[in-house]
Amino acid sequence: MKFIKVETVLQMSSLASEIISAKINSKNTAVLGFATGSTPIKTYEILVDLYEQNLLDFSQVKTVNLDEYCSHTLPTKHSYRYFMDSNLFDKININKENTYLPNGKTSDIESECARYENLINSLGGIDLQILGIGNNGHIGFNEPSDRISSFVHHVNLCATTIEANARLFENPDQVPTTAITMGIGTIMRAREIVLLANKSKTDIINQALFGEVTPQLPASFLQLHPNVTVILSTQE
Ligand code: F6R
Repeated sequence: MKFIKVETVLQMSSLASEIISAKINSKNTAVLGFATGSTPIKTYEILVDLYEQNLLDFSQVKTVNLDEYCSHTLPTKHSYRYFMDSNLFDKININKENTYLPNGKTSDIESECARYENLINSLGGIDLQILGIGNNGHIGFNEPSDRISSFVHHVNLCATTIEANARLFENPDQVPTTAITMGIGTIMRAREIVLLANKSKTDIINQALFGEVTPQLPASFLQLHPNVTVILSTQE
């Protein structure tokens, strides 16, 4: 594992965008795994800048996102599909048909989980997965638990995760309480992983990288992956 500490969020994001660019430039058909949340936003901004300067071509790239809220009443602007479209996909030359997220509005969640896992496999697996980390050590929406999940699955979000997500909603009652997420197994099958974290995650990063590997701290499983880079910014 490579553990890189930088000072600023800009440095963290620049480094992450360099790794993503190198992947696309070495394999123009790369399958990229993306995360939502505050942490990767600057990285996506830099990718848009690189595209606008003709330094990156997304035309053959495919993407799979880690997770999506489950809710039939979720306002569009709170969906992770909307987040990805507005922060990245609508601003670059990616074919939107090659950008995938779980369908959180499905009435058959079990089939949707199986479909999404099979889809990732049918794309040939994930070349590079970008991750953030929750305050409780979740990656994707794999919350602390007694066991890990190998595949895409349906989760009940922890109260602390619902509370953290509520900052983006006008009305806390709108915050979804369940989601579809890649499993720890799905994430661990990615050929390369980059985990991004800022200062507020310093303690949980140290526990995850240097403590016991346990389903109570899902990110700790990354210790077992052969190709992980963690980039921590020491400022907010
Ligand atoms: C998002 C995701 C989550 C976030 C994590 C950190 O798709 O899977 O694991 O990466 O909750 O979120 P932020 O970056 O908002 O602190």
